[in-house]
Amino acid sequence: MLQLNNPSLLKKSLFINGKWLKSKITTTVTNPFDNSTISTVSLCDKKQCNDAITYAQTAFKSWREFTAKQRSNLLYKWYELILANKKDLAQIITYEQGKPLAEALGEIVYGASYIQWFAEQAKRIDGDIIPPPNSDQRIACIKQPIGVVACITPWNFPNAMLARKIAPALAAGCTVVCKPSELTPLSALALTELSRQAGIPTGVINILMGDAAMIGKQFCASKIIKKLSFTGSTAVGKLLAAQCVDTLKRITMELGGNAPFIVFEDANIDSAVEGLMASKYRNSGQTCVCTNRILVQKPIAKIFKQKLIDAVKSQLVVGFGANKDVTTGPLINQQACLKVDELVNDALKKGAQIDYQDTTREGNLYPPTVLSNVSAQMEIAQQEIFGPVAIIIEFDNEQQALEIANNTDAGLAAYFFTQDYRRIYRVSEALEYGMVGINSGIISNEMAPFGGVKQSGMGREGSKYGLDDYLEIKYICLGGINS
Ligand code: SIN
Repeated sequence: MLQLNNPSLLKKSLFINGKWLKSKITTTVTNPFDNSTISTVSLCDKKQCNDAITYAQTAFKSWREFTAKQRSNLLYKWYELILANKKDLAQIITYEQGKPLAEALGEIVYGASYIQWFAEQAKRIDGDIIPPPNSDQRIACIKQPIGVVACITPWNFPNAMLARKIAPALAAGCTVVCKPSELTPLSALALTELSRQAGIPTGVINILMGDAAMIGKQFCASKIIKKLSFTGSTAVGKLLAAQCVDTLKRITMELGGNAPFIVFEDANIDSAVEGLMASKYRNSGQTCVCTNRILVQKPIAKIFKQKLIDAVKSQLVVGFGANKDVTTGPLINQQACLKVDELVNDALKKGAQIDYQDTTREGNLYPPTVLSNVSAQMEIAQQEIFGPVAIIIEFDNEQQALEIANNTDAGLAAYFFTQDYRRIYRVSEALEYGMVGINSGIISNEMAPFGGVKQSGMGREGSKYGLDDYLEIKYICLGGINS
């Protein structure tokens, strides 16, 4: 059972206009390790959803008038409270999402880093003075908050994805209505309670759980909401984007990936294996930037595969994330396990072979697996696996590797390992991806722009660019200077 030092963090209600509100309809939150019940939380109806949007609009009128420094100070206070409660927040993630405690703690620090970053960036929303075309005029540009923002976040990073959206919105002077995943709402609610304790004013942050289709429709149809920020699947992202057309809302979409991880024959094989372990098995393979396809140049394929199998065997311990030594928690639910199984079975039918598979198979645990003899055409290489299955595709030369890597609608993250500086330039420029890791399997941090191209979405989160989507540029022209 959850044993929190600060039990006030375990909330079960909707958070609307600064109040915790219960509702008659509830859902059960379960532990993905054994499907045991952790809590029940309230779900909103249409009226509560629309009330939250209206309250966010009212709060926007005063929040936008806070000075950048006041907003920054409040975000900073929130950041400090999150770090002070990080062990409890990590425990909540482990119980409702499944990732091991050490990784959950990493997520808390990662999420908090966006709040710290945007507390700093809030003070840097600079405008411009532009040379006018004639001497009688002066031209200025100011940046203003876009308005009420709707945020829809996934279950794989129940804390960090919400922090990554709320922090820039608040820094810019926007208010938010958020819908965390119904599978992992407790992390969002705990984070919200800390924002309340930090003194973030009433109505600035509103949190709704409920029927995803209903809430999505209300958000998209609302004229009050000026921007939608969504992290999740490409299919749902397309649906939401289409629903936003009528109100011409600004959208930020962080959607699915199909990351290639290319190992060239001149790579340092040990560091490539280390990078791959971090990229492939993070969160049991359930991240959008996880390696999906491992492309290895033929002359080193055998040795690379052996080193990978050795690393998987010796480093990964599958089990309940709260148990010491566990590195690889369960998948989010049984449906997720079935989907990974389907992809693996399809690949086996089409000629792939299992080179290694852990023996643990219990509940929603999926055994870390290494598959070779995979071809780029197989379903498993075309879809996001979202599980701890490494698939190896061999290639002959750089051009072929690039063709395979780019032959997908996705364009989120790509990785490659080489020691040739000329190849570093050639390949990083040729990869059709929003983010490229070279000799590095972990690339996400608050200082860098996170986002994809093609059908992996639009917009960037984090970095100095992360505020742009929450701001409007207003051009102001003053005439008659000389009269
Ligand atoms: C994601 O999987 O959507 C986010 C991963 C990250 O921030 O690194």
